[in-house]
Amino acid sequence: MTMKKRVTILGSTGSVGQTALRLMADHPDDFDIFALVADSNVDLLAQDARRFGATFAALADPQRHHDLKNALAGSPVQGVCGDDAIAQICAEPVDIVIAAISGSAGLVPTYTACQNARVVGIANKESLVCAGSWIMETAARRGTRIAPLDSEHHALSCLLRGVPADQVKTLVLTASGGPFRTRQDLRHITPAEALRHPTWSMGKKISVDSATLMNKGLELIEACVLFGVDESRIETLIHPESIVHGLVTCKNGGTLAHLAPADMRYPLRDALFDEQRDVLAPLSFQQGLSLTFETVDHKRFPAITLARAAYREGQAACIVLNAANECAVQAFLEGKLSFLGISTAVEEALTRHHTQTITTLQDVLALDQEVRHSAKKTLFR
Ligand SMILES: NC(=O)c1ccc[n+]([C@@H]2O[C@H](COP(=O)([O-])OP(=O)(O)OC[C@H]3O[C@@H](n4cnc5c(N)ncnc54)[C@H](OP(=O)(O)O)[C@@H]3O)[C@@H](O)[C@H]2O)c1
Repeated sequence: MTMKKRVTILGSTGSVGQTALRLMADHPDDFDIFALVADSNVDLLAQDARRFGATFAALADPQRHHDLKNALAGSPVQGVCGDDAIAQICAEPVDIVIAAISGSAGLVPTYTACQNARVVGIANKESLVCAGSWIMETAARRGTRIAPLDSEHHALSCLLRGVPADQVKTLVLTASGGPFRTRQDLRHITPAEALRHPTWSMGKKISVDSATLMNKGLELIEACVLFGVDESRIETLIHPESIVHGLVTCKNGGTLAHLAPADMRYPLRDALFDEQRDVLAPLSFQQGLSLTFETVDHKRFPAITLARAAYREGQAACIVLNAANECAVQAFLEGKLSFLGISTAVEEALTRHHTQTITTLQDVLALDQEVRHSAKKTLFR
């Protein structure tokens, strides 16, 4: 009999967290939930914590402590709230942590998990954008396996195992192109339109990022960090079907492609089952499959260019890019900024905040706050 793996899910009430729980529910003999963590969604957190018999249910929002206690009354689940409680949960040496908090709010929990867990499945790309080299170094030092959960990075990590490093020419990240790939006039886009992603069902922030292509910009930085490759060797390509998630071009002139359904269970399976179990069906070719590719229109969608520039500038610029984008997306969702205003706000923030030396995690958090503070003054008036 194999031992059950102890798992913590950071962001359990979100899109990735819920998919992870669905996959685990199909294999109840394989997992014990140590902790589920969310921001403020008391009802779903408590419901899942009871259902999966979690030891802890944690909310970042300290105001909801009373509600959480009530929602867990009569169950053995311990309800805790606040950043310190979440930090303690992340310090527990569990088998697997699924890091699926949205935004830079996931940085400290993800970083702490990388110091203590055996495997960390990282969906929270923003933490890799802001402090990727430290996360990778910490994981390497502590023997933690990082399992990329972005489908593109998961695809590339699978492909790169099959090619000697000195034979790799470029890595290609594919992008669906989002809901506005073929729309010429981007001036009067509403949040509802931007949230209607053609191929993936995801949380609000990443859905808007997919519409502006900032998601691909963040993923480009994420790929540099995960694979130790310079941005000049990473390309992006529009692939509306979202079936080919990554390509590796090789010095022998060949190109390797990774194909899988647009379904987060595929990357999650590698993190949760240590790449060992055959639990998902491969893509079927029996009905035929047409795959199309286009170049990115960087004039209409400047986000990838901004992300490349930030990466070349250094860690401080990546932190500014990320924080400014999070604020601009929030302002857009609240109807305070136009769709096109998102990339303008990011570009302005990159010129406004001068490059600083980042030497500690505190420096990262301070710069993140500084950018948010000035965004509050300019975007949320
Ligand atoms: N969705 C996808 O298919 C997908 C694919 C690849 C990568 N990703 C990445 O995965 C991450 C999550 O995406 P998502 O689509 O799952 O987002 P989502 O649906 O918006 O879920 C975000 C989760 O994070 C929690 N959260 C937010 N702030 C928190 C805080 N300060 N402390 C603790 N928990 C907090 C939320 O809790 P509440 O529910 O209480 O607000 C929720 O559980 C993002 O970085 C995204 O880029 C997502």
